[in-house]
Order: sequence, then structure tokens, then C-alpha cells
Amino acid sequence: MIIAKKIIEKYIAFFEKRGHKQIPNAPLVPENDPTTLFTNSGMQPLVPYLLGEKHPQGKKLVNVQNCFRAQDIDEIGDNRHTTFFRMLGNWSLGGYFKKEQLSWFFEFLIKELNLPLEKLYVSVFQGYNDIYKDTESENIWQELFINAGINPKNHIFFYGASKNWWSRAGAPENMPAGEPGGPDSEVFFDFETPHNPKFGKTCHINCDCGRYLEIGNSVFMQYQKQESGSFKELPQKNVDFGGGLERLLAACENKQDVFQTSLFYPIIKTIETQTAKEYEKSPKEIRVIADHLIASCFMISNGVTPSNTEQGYILRRLLRRAFDNFDLLDGKNIYTIIETIAQQYKETDPVLENKYEKIRYAITEEEQVYRKTLQRAKAYIVKQYSQQGDELIGVKVISAEAAFVLYSTHGLSPSQIKSLGFTFNDQEFAKKMEEHQALSRSGAAQKFAGGLADHSEKTIMGHTATHLLHQAIRDILGNHVHQTGSNITTKRLRFDFNYDKKLSDTEIQKIEQTVNQKIKLDLPVHFEMIPLEQAKKIGAIGLFDEKYQDQVKVYFVGNYSKEFCGGPHVKHTGVIKNFTIIKQENIGHGQRRIYAVVG
Ligand code: ALA
Repeated sequence: MIIAKKIIEKYIAFFEKRGHKQIPNAPLVPENDPTTLFTNSGMQPLVPYLLGEKHPQGKKLVNVQNCFRAQDIDEIGDNRHTTFFRMLGNWSLGGYFKKEQLSWFFEFLIKELNLPLEKLYVSVFQGYNDIYKDTESENIWQELFINAGINPKNHIFFYGASKNWWSRAGAPENMPAGEPGGPDSEVFFDFETPHNPKFGKTCHINCDCGRYLEIGNSVFMQYQKQESGSFKELPQKNVDFGGGLERLLAACENKQDVFQTSLFYPIIKTIETQTAKEYEKSPKEIRVIADHLIASCFMISNGVTPSNTEQGYILRRLLRRAFDNFDLLDGKNIYTIIETIAQQYKETDPVLENKYEKIRYAITEEEQVYRKTLQRAKAYIVKQYSQQGDELIGVKVISAEAAFVLYSTHGLSPSQIKSLGFTFNDQEFAKKMEEHQALSRSGAAQKFAGGLADHSEKTIMGHTATHLLHQAIRDILGNHVHQTGSNITTKRLRFDFNYDKKLSDTEIQKIEQTVNQKIKLDLPVHFEMIPLEQAKKIGAIGLFDEKYQDQVKVYFVGNYSKEFCGGPHVKHTGVIKNFTIIKQENIGHGQRRIYAVVG
């Protein structure tokens, strides 16, 4: 039987044999990248290289990237969506293109994974405005199917930009200026299950009924969106391939439901035992518990703790949803499930086993906080109804308004409110939810748009200023102090570091002055590719050692700062103009955070 670990090994070996260098899994919480809260695809950490920067490992890369997609939270419960997944990726950074990519992936599927040919289907880009229909990929696929002894006629289908175009922002019209993207070609596996007419009259490879599963996507990343809305060819033609490990496993094991594969089933079994419920009878709840706990374990092992903002908020939502569903099924011991998760990922991601205590502690703490929240919610209802002169005893029906406050202020889901013994008008509640979601969607869209100004001048200025700030902090507070996190948007930069005291006004002033002095000197910024050992010798600050291999890219800001980094940066510090610290705060665990603005 081909298990998840075997697929990984085969994939890496296959592409290494074809000249690819393996690059490490990047952290789940991206560094210096304001575009997203989590690494959500293999290409995320490679954006500068897709745009033309030289990668230390060359033009052909391969890896397995842990990914989290928050936008899929509401889809969890079906047969194939998971918020956390591992993406097998291979890249050509201006090297090979369509012919090699499609032939290799096809060969990998039929020769290495032994998938039956007749169950494979592919989609190709139909064209969009002046970007041509991808007949080149169509011809390559035709030849591949014919050579393998299959009539290609019913195996190749064209779709428009909504299905066969990939960028971090989705379809071409949603992409902000500067963002790279391109047409793609996807491969689907046919489970031959009956079509569910709920999803449309006729079934097709992109149908959502679950019969066909997308198992790999070759993106031909060759365009960049312009301010005018049109597309320009990138200086190099890239391939960005991503294949979901969990889905490839489902195809190998011919399990239409990814949760029934050898990777997930032991976790599902443990949930069945702990809840005394059968998977077949409560698939949605059990899938949510499994998925959300897996994602939570990975987040916590990556340093995220539950909170009300950013990554911490997503973790909180996941955990509370898992608790809700577990409670709904009268679950007993949630920690047995965590143990099974750590066990299942042990061979490929030992971090879950190594950090088991930390994970358990964070989940226990959040469970306690949540239980208290539930108590406060109950108290809120008591107060509301006694104020109105009602007797709480016997109150079963509450207004949708009161229920919505419990949701928006206390963070309780509708099912959680009901499990406290209250009912309300579902329709009115749904209406309130819709209004609320419309608001938060526009907020999220703004954040996304703002964030994707990633390669805007302002963000790049913030990035170089961050290097200056890092060095200045070490000059003033000592060399034991180093960066523990960073996030840059067009509006401000945020810098975390290990230091357990409040910085005095004088220290803040000194740091600011040092950075501003370096800006005034208009120091030139450049990078060099140098061996790791040499980089350490010259005192380059290396924060994320495990991310780098033999050759590292070191950015020099004059002679002042030397730091391992992927870029991009300004050419001369003068363009930053000015640097002001606007706030400092304690973020716990002996760490402080500084907010600053540039320009
Ligand atoms: N970047 C592409 C994806 O995530 C491969 O689907």
C-alpha cells in the first residue's frame, strides 16, 4: 500500500532525478509577508523568485509545503476539503516549461503511483481577453494520452479563467497590480461514484458532487498584472506545480472520501471511540473535529497561540468549532485525538510529537477560557431577561438579537447557543449573520488588497527599514537580542524581538536616531549568494537557519547590516526618507513588539 510518506519520498526522488533541488518546508506563519496570515500554497514563499530574483538553489526546485487555507473553513465537512494540507510542489524558475511539466507529472501518476490511466482527466485554459487559449497544453496532453494507449477525446476539457487560471488573488480580474499569475492545467481522478443532481444537471470534471477529485495543478506562471489592468509577460516563464498530498493519497487508495484514507482514518476511529458515535451517521461533525484539531496542532507547533487577532483568532475559531462539535457528539477525552494526530504525522512531521506537551497545554488553556466564556454568556442571558422582568427559569426562547450578541461578542456559534438550552428564530439570526459577513468580507478584502501591495515601494521600504531596525536594536540592547517575528504592510511595519523589559524613552530615541542616520547616509543595498559557513563567519544575522541550505542569500545595507533574506529591498536607504517608532508593546513570553512607520 502506498502511504502518505511513500508518496512524498517517491515525488521528491522523481524530481531530484530530473535535476531539482529540494527546498525545506517554510514556516506556516510567513515571515516578512503581509499578504496572508498563513502560508497557503507552496509558491507563497517563492514569490520573489517567480518575479525574477535568483534562487540560491537554482532554477529547478521541489518540496513538500505545509499549508493552511482559512477560506476553506466553511467547506469543511465534505469529502475532500481540509484547512490544513501538505502540498507537493515543483518549480521551474525560468527553466523548463509546459512540455516537461505535463509529461513528468503524467509519468509520476501512472508509473510511480500506478494510477489507472482511464481514471485520469485533465483541464486546460480556454483563454481570457487577449491571453490565448492554451492549445499547446492540449496538444501535449493529446500526445501523452495517445502514447499511453488511451483515446484523449473524452479526457481533455477546456475551462475559462474562473477554473483554469491561478494567482494568489484568484481570477485575473481580482489580481492587484504587480501580482504574478497564469493559466493552469489540472488533473482529476475519477472515483466513478453516481452524480448528485444537487450540483447540476450533468456531471463534469469540475463538478462539486465529489465524483472527480483534483489531484494536481500545473500553473504556467508567466504574466504579471499591470496598473492598467492588462497583463505583461514576466521576464521569465515559470512553472508552479502544486498537488495535495491528501488527495493523491485518496486517489492511490481509491477512497472518494479523504477522511477514510490511511492517513486520517485512525484519527476518525479515535473520534468515534471518544464520542461513541459512528462516522457514517455524523460525518460532518467528525470531519470538522478531525480537520480543525489537525490544523490547530500544526499552528500551535508553529508558535501560534489562541487570541482575538490575526493568526491567533483563526486558531481560536478552529479550536472552538472543534470543541462545539465534540460537545455535540457528547465527546469525552479530546486529548486522545491529539495523541492519535501526533502519531499519524510522526514520520513526516515529528514536530507534533516533539511539541506534544506545548500543544496539549495550549488546547487545555483555550478550553478553560472557552468554558468561562460560555458561563459569561449564560450570565448575559440571565441579565438580559431579568432586566426585562422575565423569569429566567423556563426561558427557552431568546431573541435573535440576544443570540447574535452571544455570537459576535462572546464568540458562541449558533449550535453552541442551542446546546446551552436556548432557541431563537433561525431566519432572523441568519439575516443578521449575512449582514455581519458582508461587512467582514469587505474588511477582509481590504486587508487582502492592502496586503498584496506586497511589492509596492512602501512595503519594500518597510522591509529594508526592518533590517536597519534589527541591527540598531542589537547595537543598543545587545547582541543576544534578535528578531522573533515581523509583518510589513503598506501602512506600518511590525517587529518582534526577544527582550523582557519595556524599552525606555532614551532607548527608543537612540534606536530611531540610529536608523534615521543610516537612512540619511543613503547606503547602497545589495545581495550576494554565499556559502552558509562564510555567511556565518562574516556575522550575517541568520534567523531561520533551517530554511537555508548550502548557498544563502545575504542582503547588505552598506556595511551596517548583513542579514539572510529573500528580498526584495530598496536600492539605496535614502528613499526610505524617515523612520518613526509609533508604539511598543509586551507580547508575552519574554518578547516585545515595535510598530513603526516609514516615509
Ligand atoms: N499554486 C498552485 C496552487 O496552489 C499550484 O494550486
